[in-house]
Amino acid sequence: MKSNAETNAPQTDKEVVGHVPDDPLTGHAYDGIQEFDNPLPGWWKWMFIGSIAFALPYWAFYHGGAEGRTVHDRYDNAMAANIRLQFEEIGELKEDRETVVKFLYEPSWLRVGQTVFKTNCVSCHGADGGGIVGPNLTDEEYKNVKDIGDILTVLQNGAGGGAMPAWKNRLSTNELVLAASYAASLRGTTPGTAKQPEGRKIAPWPAAPVEEDETPEGDDAESEESGDGTT
Ligand code: HEC
Repeated sequence: MKSNAETNAPQTDKEVVGHVPDDPLTGHAYDGIQEFDNPLPGWWKWMFIGSIAFALPYWAFYHGGAEGRTVHDRYDNAMAANIRLQFEEIGELKEDRETVVKFLYEPSWLRVGQTVFKTNCVSCHGADGGGIVGPNLTDEEYKNVKDIGDILTVLQNGAGGGAMPAWKNRLSTNELVLAASYAASLRGTTPGTAKQPEGRKIAPWPAAPVEEDETPEGDDAESEESGDGTT
């Protein structure tokens, strides 16, 4: 009986290119092509089986439809938790003109307003407020706004017969106020593409409010601690 090596031996040396391993043959031959019995190494097979075994529970856990498990959901949750943390610092804001003015001059809070804007407003007003369906928010002309407080009113109730949606039931109070301040802050910036001005030119926004801990100048009775003792 011939050994494998002999069975496998080429007819002439010329027919063989390169080195022929002396592994055993399986005994199959297809059109004269023979197959070595040369299985994949055990470690490779176990990695393959292991990755299949890992994939099934992984898929079930992350993509089985349970709430809050995908990377996306967890990112959103982390963002929301972060905004909640930040909001704890300012508490529930007052939904009024003064608060909108106050936060117009607080750049770190404007960034929170910006995240609200990015999520809810850019589809109509453009990423940098240049205007798409909605008007350009960077120019000096406004359709529904005469005073900065009107921005908040437009956000709360919408405008243009619903073309600008009402947000009071969709955003929290703090989100509304900070988005209003952010929208106001876009005025005077230069967007990539700017829509034609719409509406009328209005007076500049009010200046930054005076800090509370600053001692007011002048001699008005209100600022005196040792007042006249009226109770
Ligand atoms: C579905 C599109 C759409 C979305 C989303 C949208 N707006 Fe508007 N917005 C409009 C339109 C349209 C107007 C103009 C309404 C009119 O014709 O009076 C407008 C008007 C405004 C105005 C008043 C501008 C002016 O000239 O009077 C402000 C401020 C504003 N939007 C801010 C926002 C903010 C902030 C958000 C996100 C919370 C937002 N908008 C989301 C479409 C949109």
